[in-house]
Amino acid sequence: MSPPPHSRWGPVRSLLCLAPLLLGVPFLAYKVNYGLPEPIVDPVNPSTGLPQLSEARVLAHAKYLSEDIGFRTVGTREHALGDEWMIKQAELIRLQCEDAVRARPGRKLQCEVWHQQGSGSHRFDMMGHRLYKTYVDLTNIVVRISDGTDAGKEHAVLVNAHVDSTLPSPGAADDALSVGIMLECMRVLVDTPDWEPTHAIIFLFNNAEESLQDASHLFSTQHPIVNTVRAAVNLEAAGTTGRELLFQATSEQMIRAYAYAPRPFGTIVANEVFTSGIILSDTDFRQFEQYLNVTGLDIAVVGNSYLYHMRKDLVENIEPGVAQHMGENVLGLLLHLSSPESPLPALTEGYSRPSTVFYQFLGQFVVYSFSTAKILYALLFTASIVFVRLTYVDPAPALRQGKSAFGEQVKGTIAVSAALVGAFLNVNVVAFIMAKVLHKQMSWFSSERSCVLLYGPAALSGALASQLLVGRVRERTSFTAVLLLQSFLALVGQLAGIGSAGVFALSGFPILLSLVLNAIVSKPGDDISLWSYALAAFTPLSLGAQMFYITLDVFVPLTGRIGEEAPAEHIIASIVAGAGSYTLPLLVPFVHRFGRRTILRGAVLFSMLTALAMAIFSMRSPFDAMHQKRVFIIHMENVTTQEQHLHVAAADGAPGFDILAHSIARQFSVPGVVPEPVSMNTWNNDWDTMYPFSNFLTPYKFDLPLKPEYMDAPEHDFTVTAVNNKIDTAAGTRSLTLKIYHPGIIWTAVTFDAHVLQWALDNNPPDEYTRHYIKEGSFYGHDTWTVDLVVKIPEGDPDARIRVNFVGIHEKAMWPGKKAEKELGGRAMALFEEFDAWIEKETEGKVDALLLGCVGGITTV
Ligand SMILES: *[C@@H]1O[C@H](CO)[C@@H](O)[C@H](O)[C@H]1NC(C)=O
Ligand SMILES: *[C@@H]1O[C@H](CO)[C@@H](O)[C@H](O)[C@H]1NC(C)=O
Ligand SMILES: [Zn+2]
Repeated sequence: MSPPPHSRWGPVRSLLCLAPLLLGVPFLAYKVNYGLPEPIVDPVNPSTGLPQLSEARVLAHAKYLSEDIGFRTVGTREHALGDEWMIKQAELIRLQCEDAVRARPGRKLQCEVWHQQGSGSHRFDMMGHRLYKTYVDLTNIVVRISDGTDAGKEHAVLVNAHVDSTLPSPGAADDALSVGIMLECMRVLVDTPDWEPTHAIIFLFNNAEESLQDASHLFSTQHPIVNTVRAAVNLEAAGTTGRELLFQATSEQMIRAYAYAPRPFGTIVANEVFTSGIILSDTDFRQFEQYLNVTGLDIAVVGNSYLYHMRKDLVENIEPGVAQHMGENVLGLLLHLSSPESPLPALTEGYSRPSTVFYQFLGQFVVYSFSTAKILYALLFTASIVFVRLTYVDPAPALRQGKSAFGEQVKGTIAVSAALVGAFLNVNVVAFIMAKVLHKQMSWFSSERSCVLLYGPAALSGALASQLLVGRVRERTSFTAVLLLQSFLALVGQLAGIGSAGVFALSGFPILLSLVLNAIVSKPGDDISLWSYALAAFTPLSLGAQMFYITLDVFVPLTGRIGEEAPAEHIIASIVAGAGSYTLPLLVPFVHRFGRRTILRGAVLFSMLTALAMAIFSMRSPFDAMHQKRVFIIHMENVTTQEQHLHVAAADGAPGFDILAHSIARQFSVPGVVPEPVSMNTWNNDWDTMYPFSNFLTPYKFDLPLKPEYMDAPEHDFTVTAVNNKIDTAAGTRSLTLKIYHPGIIWTAVTFDAHVLQWALDNNPPDEYTRHYIKEGSFYGHDTWTVDLVVKIPEGDPDARIRVNFVGIHEKAMWPGKKAEKELGGRAMALFEEFDAWIEKETEGKVDALLLGCVGGITTV
């Protein structure tokens, strides 16, 4: 098909010819990635008369929780209301079950309800920090649907969502949406006349996830039916749009079960990225893995993650179709897992590393095992080598006698690798200029994919410039080098246990195929036809586009909450270069098709485009009303010194926060005060209620004017004392019970330095004098918690006195969660109201401020 070399099309004409593919495939991938079903309103299918999953009902539940009840932060009154509502819903399902059985006597169906309440503690290391959680009287609502027999209850699937919401958020998507989906799945199952579960489904409505997974810990360690759980399905949200993504899957059986969902959506790449921990996120799934030792699926809505843990996580911002998509997938999965074909009885082996490759490819959910992968990729690699050897034609036999086929390949491989290095280098140089020279970091923040316009041209110019250094390479050689490299990476990656390496096989196979076809239709040693490019480019374009969509959806909004220190600009630039290199693997052979002059022109053109993009992006503001900056404000009353301070912090590296901090100081602090940045280190206890996330904060601290009219703060009896004191001089130890009394104060945290020998929090406290963090979460109205300690008496301090920093949140002083009863929150709430209106105006709605009225102090016990 390709025209003879001398009359071959030039670069522009060739590109125009490939353009439909270059644009069309990413567009199709977009459709597949973001396509959602039509939302259904009717709870009963009018044509079949059978119940069907209704998005309208799911969202009605979510709206009740997130708006009628509101911010369900653990320990607040609203949190207790959420619990009460949940119990009522569970009871309704139980009655519905009984009605269903009465209507069809003999139907094997039973619904049991538990309202679990309990206390406990657990070690919860996060982001490299050691941390302990204790909790008092937290709750879970548990519904088990089974066929009523012992055999039917022996192997159950656990499905979990959390009813509580995090500090600053009404939590409509996170996680009231999933609560609604579980309720709606129960309704459909129970109302389907013929449905009988062979295996039980345990629905866990857990009521304390955001306080660091206390309720799932409570369920996993104390509930009477946990030993029947064989697998866990966790439903979460970090966003409000698009398809729900399977981002953790831990056994082959459960991955295969997920294929029974009507529209499965997941890839091992997302899975391995999440498991690596670089997203710095965590779900209840961790507790199920750790304490139940079961495998399962972790599923979440991830699109538009800008509203995650923000005020605008509201039902009105959940894209239509999201609930329908996720709901039908969960329902399909539960139908399969409760059926006679279910893998549950075989899942008694506990947690182990998954050994299954799975992809979303061309709209299909593809699953195969690691062993199959190894065989396939080994075959690909071998076939590639054989092909390259067999079809090799020495370019100039007279001149280059003796040079082997693979000597040429080495040069081709250098060219291909140089392009990758060039792309990475150049985007990072541009990122450095944007961040450190122009101070315009995060200019792409408000639109996930816009960064491609900034860093795409930079990647291309870097890749092309590198080819000028490499010199002349035959088109064919670099084409086969791409094949060898990709098949090699697939095999080596898979042998190293990295399932994601399969992406290289998925692009390697069609490259091999296109080369074989090319060899058949053209003479040996002849050129590569444009058709071969089209055929070989299809898979990487499609998978690469998907890679862009998923990674940018996750990482771009993430840069708004990972702190000033994180190299946000370089992370995003490198993602564009990496995913771009994967998407266009044939760039190198393609440019060598036209020779040096074209490469030079291309490099210059893309450099100019890069400069233009830098100029345009420099004028953009990172934030807008729907892509806000997160600002954290604490009004601190120090019960030890009677001082009041305002603490202000941001969690991102966008420019301008120091200016904002100065305006805040001018507006709210004592006249003439200059705000000083505070160091966020181990010795800074101001932000302990948010520890360990506080490590991402860039804080400032201001004095607040102490006018008499401001001193109306509610009385606090927040105290830390030591009881049951016992000094054992012979053993050199002191034992005590640390007692924290915190009426009206929630989310208390204490920190102290001691050499702890023994306590109930874990079995092996570090064997040294060091700092300890203990945080608490309790049900509304609880005001005391304790921890028993045995500490070593230090040299020269026979009393082994311990200085304890303590801090907590005033339950009535949280803005905007407690707006409706602001007069109960004293001076802090009055200040917050003023502050919120001021910052809204000052920043034109570009800031979401979380305002907490905290109380703290220091004491020696
Ligand atoms: C989980 O179960 C497997 C198989 O029973 C066992 O080998 C493993 O040690 C268990 N892991 C934990 C953390 O209990
Ligand atoms: C309260 O003030 C004391 C004395 O300055 C200080 O050590 C302590 O860290 C402060 N605590 C809080 C929570 O501000
Ligand atoms: Zn959540």
